[in-house]
Parts: sequence; structure tokens; C-alpha cells
Amino acid sequence: MENGNYILIDKSIIAEGCAYDFSIYYFHNKSKIKKLQNKGVVIDSDDLLYFEQANKLYVHAHEHSSYKKFMQENFVGKSGNPVSFASKFNSIYKNASKALNDLFDNPEKLSNYKESKKIVNELVESVLDDDFAIKSLMEIATHDYYTHTHSINVSIYALSLGNFLSLSTKELEELGEAALLHDLGKSKIDSNIINKKGSLTIQEFKIMKKHPSFGVSIGLKLGIKNKNILEGIKYHHEKMDGSGYPNGLYNDEIPLYAKIICICDIFDALTSQRSYKQAMTSYEALKLMKVEMNRHIDLKLLNKMILMFK
Ligand SMILES: [Fe+2]
Ligand SMILES: [Fe+2]
Repeated sequence: MENGNYILIDKSIIAEGCAYDFSIYYFHNKSKIKKLQNKGVVIDSDDLLYFEQANKLYVHAHEHSSYKKFMQENFVGKSGNPVSFASKFNSIYKNASKALNDLFDNPEKLSNYKESKKIVNELVESVLDDDFAIKSLMEIATHDYYTHTHSINVSIYALSLGNFLSLSTKELEELGEAALLHDLGKSKIDSNIINKKGSLTIQEFKIMKKHPSFGVSIGLKLGIKNKNILEGIKYHHEKMDGSGYPNGLYNDEIPLYAKIICICDIFDALTSQRSYKQAMTSYEALKLMKVEMNRHIDLKLLNKMILMFK
């Protein structure tokens, strides 16, 4: 919203200890615009009191690009809307990204696995602590598609769906871990195949189809003994009509976590931007899944996911 030469900004970016590359203004007595904070000056606790009193905050049009840059770099989520500055989830996501990067670089290193376990616990805690947590986490989930960020996104979606299905904390921890590690086996596959832009040859696809089983082998080496987690990883590409892999399981032969991960996996692939395709909106993705993939995915779960998004 614009007001003359001044443009409304997101008030939630204001935090003690922060300085911005633009000055911040407010309307005094609804008519006169006044500067509240100079560009580059750190906000202290006294300043915060003034900010609290100001109803709306603005930047001057000539500094709007600095404001937009700031938002782009820090707080723009999937929907393109700013994510709350106060949100702690931004840092969880950043930590998770780093942990997953390390894990994919060195998947059999125990300390990397332990770090990713911590991430799962943080994500589960966030889901349980705060009704809005998952919304914030989903806002932050990045648009760009890399295996490690994809893993975090799938974990976030799976945990939100699991929470919506009233799974227990223990179950959420298992599900979150299985979702985070579901594609870990890709670390054992030639990156030329993983990153190939066009469709895979029959031979390449044969290799690609090994990643769920490779994931289980790595999991076992890392000391994962939990059957639910291992099965979540192993069967995340199974399809309800038996056309999936590695075992061609049918319907309820597929374990719940694998079904959830499968739905969240497809959802993230459709809503993420890749070099060769635009991202779909959540609505478009869910609609496509319902219309075109109804023989592959568990429709009861998909309907729950649709309800959750409503
Ligand atoms: Fe996969
Ligand atoms: Fe995946």
C-alpha cells in the first residue's frame, strides 16, 4: 500500500539490535509523516517503545528497493509473503539446511546423523508447541530444489500432516526422521543422474530406483534400528496400485509413514521451482495429485492434506 511517496512495510521486521539499510517513517496524528528511525542506526529498547506506538510503518519510495532487497534476502517465504521477523523458525530452517548438507556430503558420519536428529526434535517441538509453527515453517520452506532442502521440506510437510492426523510425539519423531532421511540413499548415486534435467534412460532409472534401499543401508550403518523409520525410507516410492518400487507393494501393505512421505515428496516436487519448470501453487499441486495421481497415492491421506491446507 502506498501513501504518497511512502510505502507501507511489514512491522514485524522490527527487532532490538537490528539496523536497516533504509529509514523508517510513521504518520504522526494521521497526517504528518515523521522519521522514526534513521537508516543504519541500531534499534535499542527505547526505540522499540516508539515503534510499538506507531500503528503503521513506511519507507520512502526511493529506499523501497533496499527494503525489498532486505525482505528478499531474509524473510520471503513460499507464498511470496514476508515471514515474521520474530519467527525462530527461520533459524531452524537454516540450521537444518546446513545439517542436511553435511549429512549428504558424508552420510555415514555419525555426528552428521546426530545433528540431523536434533533438527527433527526441534521441528517436532515446534509443531507441538505452537499452532502456527507449521505455517511459519512452511512459509520458510525454500522454493529452490536441492536434495537437502527437499528433505527438510518433506519433513516439514510430513510433520504437519502427521500432527493433523493426531500422531503421538514419539510417532512424529519417527516420521520426521524418516522424512528427513528418505532420499539419503541418493548420496550413493552418480550426481549426473541425480541432477539430470531431462528424463532418465531405462538404465539410469534402474540405478535411481535403488536409492530407497541405499538409504536403508546407510541408516543401518548409522545404527538406526527402528523398523518404522527404516520402512518409511524404504517404501516412500511405493504406489497404491502396486506400480511403485522397490517391492511393488499394494494399498495397505505400504506402511503409513511411507504413504505420508510419498504424498509430501510429490507435493514438494510440484511446488518447488526447478531450473526447467515453474513452481505450482499448493492448490494447483493438490488438485493435480487428486485428479491425476489418485491410483498412486492414498486418497484418504491426500484428503486430510487438502483439509489441512484449508
Ligand atoms: Fe525418493
Ligand atoms: Fe524425495
